[in-house]
Amino acid sequence: MIVITQQNVFNVPFSFIIFGGSGDNSYQKIYPALYDIAEKKMFPENFAIIATGRRYSEEEFSAFFQHSLTSDNRHHKHSIDSDSFKFLKSHMYFFPGDNTKLSFYKDLDRYLDKLGSEGFHSNNRLFYLGLPQSIYPTVFKNVKKSGLNKSRLGGWTRIMIEKPIGYDVASARRYDKMFLDTFSEEQIFRLDHYLGKETLENILSFRFDNNIFENLLHAGYLDHIQISAPENFGIGKRGKFYEETGALKDVGQNHILQMIALATMERPRGDTDKELVRSRIDLIKNLSAKPADVVFGQYTDGEVDGKKVVGYRDEESVDPDSEVETFFAFKAHFKHDRFKNVPIYVRAGKQMTTWVTEINYVFKSHNIGDNVLTIRIQPNEGVGLKILTKKPGYAKVLEPTLMQFCYKHYFPEETFDAYEKLLQDAFAGKRTSFNTSEEVEAEWQFIDPLVKNRTPITFHKAGSWGPKEAFDLIEYDGRNWIEPYAAFCQI
Ligand code: BG6
Repeated sequence: MIVITQQNVFNVPFSFIIFGGSGDNSYQKIYPALYDIAEKKMFPENFAIIATGRRYSEEEFSAFFQHSLTSDNRHHKHSIDSDSFKFLKSHMYFFPGDNTKLSFYKDLDRYLDKLGSEGFHSNNRLFYLGLPQSIYPTVFKNVKKSGLNKSRLGGWTRIMIEKPIGYDVASARRYDKMFLDTFSEEQIFRLDHYLGKETLENILSFRFDNNIFENLLHAGYLDHIQISAPENFGIGKRGKFYEETGALKDVGQNHILQMIALATMERPRGDTDKELVRSRIDLIKNLSAKPADVVFGQYTDGEVDGKKVVGYRDEESVDPDSEVETFFAFKAHFKHDRFKNVPIYVRAGKQMTTWVTEINYVFKSHNIGDNVLTIRIQPNEGVGLKILTKKPGYAKVLEPTLMQFCYKHYFPEETFDAYEKLLQDAFAGKRTSFNTSEEVEAEWQFIDPLVKNRTPITFHKAGSWGPKEAFDLIEYDGRNWIEPYAAFCQI
């Protein structure tokens, strides 16, 4: 076993304050991650988790919290151990109130001091912002007025802010100014949870610590690259958020660009956080797409996994004439020599035929698609190489076969969710897997022109692979979308 760096150790007490504690993100991601940290006994002796929200009473919140850990969740599939649950619950507090009022912040500050004086935590505070962006100006104004932004004696105060930040370059800049008017840069953790995914982090080790493939990931050998991120579920109760955001800004501006960055960036010049982030940013700044090479789609009613589902326009809190995209596909180019004339094709969407996220490096070969290196981000995580093999027999018949590494074979117990890692990083003050404002701005620089000169929306059945136009986009170039191998790391 080669240990390059030690895992995080955060044995200092702290309080973790969740704004939006009754929201979807807390339910889906934050509580399951906190539970996993508790189950692994990685919390310090003294800590407090304070969920704030105005939707529930204390009793209702308690049921909501328990439900978040025990109901179906694709990132949290294991059962709950009652001791770990009780332990976590004994450190959880619910602070109800209206976060549009200054009094809420002042009362919260007093409440945190009270908990502190009862010995539950120290002067270290991490805030998590799981709220709609439209409310940020109110939140930041009140956080500043109430003094919640200030570090306490001998402690730290930090804030984690979910993506997307802003709606375009101009608003992202305005928001960043507001953040920096309230907190210092060292206090701000801009969160894109894909940066916390083990499978994304491993792309760097796969590329830069092995040296076998890195020389092949080059214009001389590659025909093109593909990223597919279809999801087989809809927008759930997030209609309001989705109507303001759409697929390109929800996952394209952030998760997809981070996958592209890690898959194609240059080796960082050194081992520091700064140099790694630098490489990601340089790559994003070197990427461009033409608005005509973008397809925007929206799902209509259909069938997913054998179940009938409604179309996007009939979802809760969605305008019946909405033009918001739930699907997008684009072709982009790199400006630097390494991938000169190697396009990258991307497709992502909701309520599609399957849930899978993967990066495919498609090599030049007699028949394009014979040799493909696949990094499977989720589910059935792993890395696979498609190669042609002679089928045993007298005649020479070639069959596509797969060489694969599957996480579940080597590390059956050791996988963990992105939020678990990112929360631990933020508790420990480690910044590598968070975005800088320059990075967020570079992401918007790529997205903005595509939104400003938007191509019209196209429609596709729920449960399909997206609109015909997305197929035209790649087929016009004499290439095809790669269908994910159903058998990949299944067993
Ligand atoms: C979130 C988006 O950031 O990422 C969701 O808001 C999307 O719409 C989710 O479904 C995907 O994350 P994951 O980790 O499930 O791939």
